[in-house]
Amino acid sequence: MTKPIDLAALPHNFAWGTATSAYQIEGAVAEDGRSPSIWDTFSHTPGKIDHDDHGDIACDHYHRRHEDIALMKQLGTNAYRFSVAWPRVMPQGDGPVNGKGLDFYDQLVDELLAAGITPSLTVYHWDLPQVLQDRGGWPERDTAHHLAAYASALAERLGDRVHHWATLNEPLCSAWIGHLEGRMAPGLTDLTAAVRASYHLLLGHGLAAQAIRAAAPGAQVGIVNNLSTVEPAGERPEDIAAARRMDGHTNRWWLDPVHGRGFPADMLDVYGVELPERPGDLDSIAAPLDWLGLNYYFPAVVADDPSGPAPYARQVRRPGVPRTGMDWEVDANGIEALLLRLTNEYGARKLYVTENGSAYPDVLSADGTVDDPERARYLEKHLAACARAARKGAPLAGYFAWSLLDNFEWAYGYDKRFGLVHVDYTTQRRTIKGSGHRYADIIRGHRGRRSDHAA
Ligand code: IFM
Repeated sequence: MTKPIDLAALPHNFAWGTATSAYQIEGAVAEDGRSPSIWDTFSHTPGKIDHDDHGDIACDHYHRRHEDIALMKQLGTNAYRFSVAWPRVMPQGDGPVNGKGLDFYDQLVDELLAAGITPSLTVYHWDLPQVLQDRGGWPERDTAHHLAAYASALAERLGDRVHHWATLNEPLCSAWIGHLEGRMAPGLTDLTAAVRASYHLLLGHGLAAQAIRAAAPGAQVGIVNNLSTVEPAGERPEDIAAARRMDGHTNRWWLDPVHGRGFPADMLDVYGVELPERPGDLDSIAAPLDWLGLNYYFPAVVADDPSGPAPYARQVRRPGVPRTGMDWEVDANGIEALLLRLTNEYGARKLYVTENGSAYPDVLSADGTVDDPERARYLEKHLAACARAARKGAPLAGYFAWSLLDNFEWAYGYDKRFGLVHVDYTTQRRTIKGSGHRYADIIRGHRGRRSDHAA
């Protein structure tokens, strides 16, 4: 018997969702006028991705969206977070709009709504058109303006039916992993480029938020950050200082400016890079937010690392702590702590967990089932922690499990499976895993409580 989870603190109209992103699932990279993105380039560069995998076909969602929406229904979800591929909609990066590319999302939105599933649209989940990278990419200011123009085109076409908008997904990854660590597209290792990219991503967020609201009055606009709790590996003052720097790098750099606090002064000193700031930028970046999205996966335990890249802090392995197939520590208390930090320190008025999930090496057994108890436990523990945060006052309005489907896990290719639904990449056959069935039970349980309430 599975133990019931106490979700009573979650509101009756809670959004129960799953999440995906365009490049990770769509495939069809050369269809209907789509141009290459930086991820096409990066994944086709030998040695960048495990097994030299790429997103050319991925989950073939572009041709299988009906089946995938049917899966969402089977799971009992009432919300779906997806991203739009910029190079499908604006193959030249800054216009004109490619009608065929937009048609796909137009139809996706209509079909979701017909299935009773609320669309939650992310404008940018890392797939910058390569043509814009060729003009300098995120280190250049123009890219922020192009993002706003692209967001405006989306809002004009979809804003009558899509009310929930995220400008950016995890700008930390675009800036720090893509421009400083080089493990993601565009694969640079240049601190100045990384800081400039981070600045223009946040400026792009603010300009895009304005553009979405102008084209779709009443749109609910937010930003999605991947945050971590941070603690020092020990008592040494150097490690305590390293933890403070890691908190700045991972959390405060992304939260402070959008909350009107400017960029953290201590981190400006750590990076030592001049911001490409112009008058009025900080006000644009601090455009009012209707909601904040938290992507949570793991805590950071760090030690001083003077010879490493900024922020000169390295992640430490704690012995005996359970880890997922990504080698990430499992710590559900972190999601509670972060939801409460966003509430208490940043005054968030509406929060969503926009991603949370785990990869494990799942196996499709001969009887056609996928038994993944570790993922089911991960889900239960994190949901229970979300409910604890809600009980303590966090205004949590929804939870999106990462991910609906197994998919292209960036530099790790297809080996790392995060889905509630297993994908056989040879046949494209989908199978709901044990954790997917558990998620459906949990959602049913919460709904049942709701009707008890109403009765
Ligand atoms: O797959 C990614 C997703 O694209 C962004 N957030 C983290 C997930 C797991 O690594």
